[in-house]
Amino acid sequence: EEFFASRTVLEKKKIVITAGPTYEKIDPVRFIGNYSSGKMGFALAEVSAQQGAEVTLIAGPVSLTTTHPNIQRIDVESAEEMYQAAMTAFPGADAGILCAAVADYRPEIQAGEKIKRESKGEMMLHLIPNKDIAASLGAIKREGQVLVGFALETNNEATNAESKLKRKNLDFIVLNSLRDAGAGFRCDTNKISIIDRQGETTGYPLKSKQGVAVDIVNKLATLLK
Ligand code: CTP
Ligand code: CA
Repeated sequence: EEFFASRTVLEKKKIVITAGPTYEKIDPVRFIGNYSSGKMGFALAEVSAQQGAEVTLIAGPVSLTTTHPNIQRIDVESAEEMYQAAMTAFPGADAGILCAAVADYRPEIQAGEKIKRESKGEMMLHLIPNKDIAASLGAIKREGQVLVGFALETNNEATNAESKLKRKNLDFIVLNSLRDAGAGFRCDTNKISIIDRQGETTGYPLKSKQGVAVDIVNKLATLLK
């Protein structure tokens, strides 16, 4: 585990964090979701608050709680709701950390009533794209604001992560590879690399998500001076 020299590397900074999955409704009782637990985003919120930040935590559906008084939590369900909350909060913030596993698509039609199992055999769900929250914040980012993204990849990790960094106008991107044991969804540990705008990559050992959050917050603090 890493420790801070001082406990206030983010003193008075306003940080917006997205965390968890999004749920995209199919009908009143069904949704499309993913396995994100929200643990990495919640660890980032706790560590940032412990370091003196005022945190706005925009959380998808998760079963986690927060305790720190400097965390203001906004619960959302869908990608569209997360987008609205993030676009509202980011202009007044010093930094944004996009840790949520946002659904890329949603059903075009949300049925008002439960879809019945008719005897017709197959069923089709037509999906349409959701907004890219990271890219939208990247497009409105002001001088001095810092934007941090995540990339969870299974192949061509560095190339994919670097292209996301550029496309979304991020300041650095945190890469986790699903090829690393102990990394990713539903784990209490994570193994990351950080790629910055200069193309410089720093690798970190396998750590608790709390320890990983400390590394990310320390990197963020160097850019918020
Ligand atoms: N992200 C976001 N809004 C979306 C999709 C992604 O804010 N609609 C953010 C994630 O929170 C993450 C980063 O963008 O910080 C990369 O997410 P990822 O799913 O890896 O990237 P995509 O651009 O969706 O590319 P793909 O899923 O095709 O790899
Ligand atoms: Ca995606």
